[in-house]
Amino acid sequence: MVAKLLLATGNKGKVRELRELLCDLDFSIVTLDDLDERPEMPDETGVTYEENAKIKASVIAQKTGLLTLADDSGLEVLCLGNRPGIHSARYDKDEQSRIDKLHRELGARIPTAARFVCVVALSLPTGDSRSFYGECKGQIIGERRGAGGFGYDPVFLVEGMEKTMAQLSSAEKNELSHRARAVRASAKFMLSPEGKEWLQS
Ligand code: IMP
Repeated sequence: MVAKLLLATGNKGKVRELRELLCDLDFSIVTLDDLDERPEMPDETGVTYEENAKIKASVIAQKTGLLTLADDSGLEVLCLGNRPGIHSARYDKDEQSRIDKLHRELGARIPTAARFVCVVALSLPTGDSRSFYGECKGQIIGERRGAGGFGYDPVFLVEGMEKTMAQLSSAEKNELSHRARAVRASAKFMLSPEGKEWLQS
């Protein structure tokens, strides 16, 4: 029987990307919506991406008894001292107003250097967790371009490309995004001898 891997996130953009990124692994991917009793996501009380990713993965793994993957991610703008960072989802009330607020706060400093950061945590039902890091560099630009992706993607110009993250196809975003890099590191671990032993522990 194929083992289950639960994605502990309610963010539809993340679910879509994580499903695509994990499709080559020998797991049956399960989302919170697939469960008979949907567990409540814990509060993100950590002060780092790693702490928050581990809190989400380990709490949900212990509640459900399933191998669980969670990510914590954010946008870091260098001239803002890496804000909004771990608070990216709570920077303002919705995706549109978060971008508007970022533009207001940056003003004449646009275009400006930024990066997306992601930590993926895997957790066993015991709560034991491992974490994996990924980042993607770019610039915040002053106008929205593209309709793909989610969140801050329309104003994030990817380093070395003439496109924003929202102008990339999902295959392109899944090659170079912060989430793709962190997920690939987690997949490499799960396929390694150490990872296979950990999954059985
Ligand atoms: P959290 O990991 O649930 O705390 O939320 C991370 C937040 O960072 C998202 O709600 C987005 O605002 C932003 N973010 C993370 N990854 C991406 C991405 O791939 N594209 C655009 N915005 C992102």
